[in-house]
Amino acid sequence: MAVLFGSRSVEHEVSVVTAMQIFANIDRNKYEVVPIYIDKQGAWKLGPGLDKLESFKNLELVEKIKLTKFRMPDQINRAEIIPVDGGLLAPKPQKFDILIPAVHGTYGEDGTLQGLLEMTGVPYVGCGVGASALGMDKVAQKAVYEHEGLPVVKYVWFYDWEWRADQAKLIKKIETELGYPVCVKPANLGSSVGINMASNRKELVWAAAVAESFDSKILIEEGLPEIDEINVAVMGNEDLEVSVCEQPIKSNTVLTYEDKYLKGGKTKGMASLSRLVPAPISGVLTKKIQDYAKRAFRALGCSGISRIDFLVDIKKELVYINEINTLPGSLAFYLWEKSGYTFPQLIDRLIELGWEKFEKRKGKMYSIDSKLLRGTGGAKR
Ligand SMILES: Nc1ncnc2c1ncn2[C@@H]1O[C@H](COP(=O)(O)OP(=O)(O)O)[C@@H](O)[C@H]1O
Ligand SMILES: [Mg+2]
Repeated sequence: MAVLFGSRSVEHEVSVVTAMQIFANIDRNKYEVVPIYIDKQGAWKLGPGLDKLESFKNLELVEKIKLTKFRMPDQINRAEIIPVDGGLLAPKPQKFDILIPAVHGTYGEDGTLQGLLEMTGVPYVGCGVGASALGMDKVAQKAVYEHEGLPVVKYVWFYDWEWRADQAKLIKKIETELGYPVCVKPANLGSSVGINMASNRKELVWAAAVAESFDSKILIEEGLPEIDEINVAVMGNEDLEVSVCEQPIKSNTVLTYEDKYLKGGKTKGMASLSRLVPAPISGVLTKKIQDYAKRAFRALGCSGISRIDFLVDIKKELVYINEINTLPGSLAFYLWEKSGYTFPQLIDRLIELGWEKFEKRKGKMYSIDSKLLRGTGGAKR
């Protein structure tokens, strides 16, 4: 079992935490674990000790551990990685059966890694290319939700070059369609990085400049400062299971990176966030959120696992889908633990689902016999 983590992402450190949690909880009697670390420059590395938290100081890789650069194979249907530098002393290619991407955000959760794995025919856990890419783009996924009749907050979006070309027009659109406060986000990022609330035009211009420094696609949402947040996880390929709901506790109007990861010590990741599990909401509201979550998962074409986050006015029982995380921090194990799966059982189930999807895909046709075409073609005509 290969577990891939790190990568070129603002959530690099969060990924290290998720991977360490997997290493600590995976059933070693069942699985031989191959940790694959992608550094912040994008180099794939293997070596002893990568599955130990001691190898990371403040979640940065300790210099002295000896790693070798590897790469994906250039032949299909080879679940292995190959040392970059050949030669007599080079290590052997490292084979594995299935890969767990434990990577959050860009180059891991966004479909790019999934594309590479599909191209090389490597079985892997979790969402495929399309769902991962949609799940990273907060604007694109909203369009899908709206089309499925799922509730989202009012929003406006634009590209950075459009903002630069006619800021006044866009400001007017935002002020008439949304009004202040607004929540300004880069469309493709995570962990609250680059997200700010703006209560007036000056703050909007500042927040847009921040968002623009992270992504060229910018999302402006109606700001809901008093809103509660409820998250729920979904698991499956066809028959979907849904977890209990959680209510994360925030210290600010926006749940910050610090709230999410740094509260209970750096090593706990999403598990350290203070939260109420199950969320103290009515049975009716819980059902509604769980139903929306399953519909969102299906609509985006997810498989394996995802966590769907909602903005909820608990008193008024008003619900909006906020965003999906196709590789949830810590695999949302703290939700599954309260929903009938221990962490090791959760990993088992995700691997099963990954296999199931791989096998099903293998059964589909990817080429057609040209004779078939001749039969339907114009020979007789
Ligand atoms: N429309 C909104 N109004 C008020 N607060 C919001 C809104 N959207 C998001 N937030 C706050 O910002 C946080 C991060 O936004 P989110 O869309 O979840 O991005 P990320 O992918 O970074 O988690 C949320 O957890 C929530 O606290
Ligand atoms: Mg979020």
